[in-house]
Amino acid sequence: MSKKRVAIIGGGQVAETVHVPYYLSRDDIELVAVVGQNADRVKNFAARNGIPYYYTDAAEMYAAQKPDIVSVCTPNRFHYKHVMVALSNGCDVMCEKPPAISADEAKKMQEEAEKNHCILAYDFHHRFADDVELLRKKVEEGILGDIYVVKAQALRRCGIPGWGNFTNKSLQGGGPLIDLGIHMLDAALYVLGYPKIEKVTAKMFQKIGNKKSDGTFGEWDPEKFEVEDSLFGFIELEGGRLLQLETSFALNIKETSIMNVQFCGDQAGATLFPAQIYTDKKGELTSLLERETADPERHQKSMAAFVDKCFGKDVKIADAKEGYIIQQLIEALYQSAEKGESVSL
Ligand SMILES: NC(=O)c1ccc[n+]([C@@H]2O[C@H](COP(=O)([O-])OP(=O)(O)OC[C@H]3O[C@@H](n4cnc5c(N)ncnc54)[C@H](O)[C@@H]3O)[C@@H](O)[C@H]2O)c1
Repeated sequence: MSKKRVAIIGGGQVAETVHVPYYLSRDDIELVAVVGQNADRVKNFAARNGIPYYYTDAAEMYAAQKPDIVSVCTPNRFHYKHVMVALSNGCDVMCEKPPAISADEAKKMQEEAEKNHCILAYDFHHRFADDVELLRKKVEEGILGDIYVVKAQALRRCGIPGWGNFTNKSLQGGGPLIDLGIHMLDAALYVLGYPKIEKVTAKMFQKIGNKKSDGTFGEWDPEKFEVEDSLFGFIELEGGRLLQLETSFALNIKETSIMNVQFCGDQAGATLFPAQIYTDKKGELTSLLERETADPERHQKSMAAFVDKCFGKDVKIADAKEGYIIQQLIEALYQSAEKGESVSL
């Protein structure tokens, strides 16, 4: 089998810690190029990671390198532009999360992938933890009964990122909801089989990031803190189910970080990371499943699923259709929080 040629767009933190090491670990992949915005930085990135070619102009890269696969790892604002160009060049694409800034963009990305018969995957890597597949099967088997309340939490106590563009609304599209909450929403919806979303109500706050300038994730400029620092949502799903969301970069809670989903059914309840199922029998609290630690390999598994899919294997990815649904949800939550009223989908 011939090797597939890979290019990376956006040589930053996630490209260097996840995408590059994964591609380099495979002998059926040739990592040929990186595209960046800043000439010195992209040159250093290529040198550090042993990537033979670097560019500041994506069009030049496509013409010279003709990649089969592209990873889009830029700030959120540029996902749409780079994914559309990659797909129009016939490349399969792994795009970092969130899919885009707006639902309209995510829809066009899905349509472009379908038109060009290309794979478009989003890096919702938490759903690739073994815990998620295990729980999804238990849910399908009906062990939890009728799941009527789900709580997704993506909370940091004082974790406003001091690097990158995470406090810049125009480049990122928002704060913890679009950056962190989106991961746990995807994991929750995936376990439930991506049910139809009917209505959302949200409230967001900017109480800490615009007053302080440091935390456990470094320093930022409070004058330039443009995003919410916490958001709380009520998401009504088909069949009368409720999905609650709590997400923050900064919120004065006891725990330093929580990334988890709880499912409450009328037969049993479950926690996702690690996967645990619990109920009671004749007044005794009982455990039905008890993994001790959550799968730490989920990010590599997300990359592996995408690359295997590119080689024609029948594996699940976080696909363009689901990406559009979740982008609609994110947009509706922000709209609800901004308008102070519920939004129907
Ligand atoms: N799946 C995950 O858990 C996960 C983790 C971290 C980051 N991410 C996502 O990855 C993306 C990048 O995050 P990061 O932390 O690596 O940020 P970063 O700031 O470290 O890297 C972004 C890189 O993109 C380059 N860039 C900026 N504009 C560009 C453009 N127009 N064209 C080409 N390159 C451009 C920058 O120079 C920088 O090197 C974001 O969308 C973020 O949400 C996902």
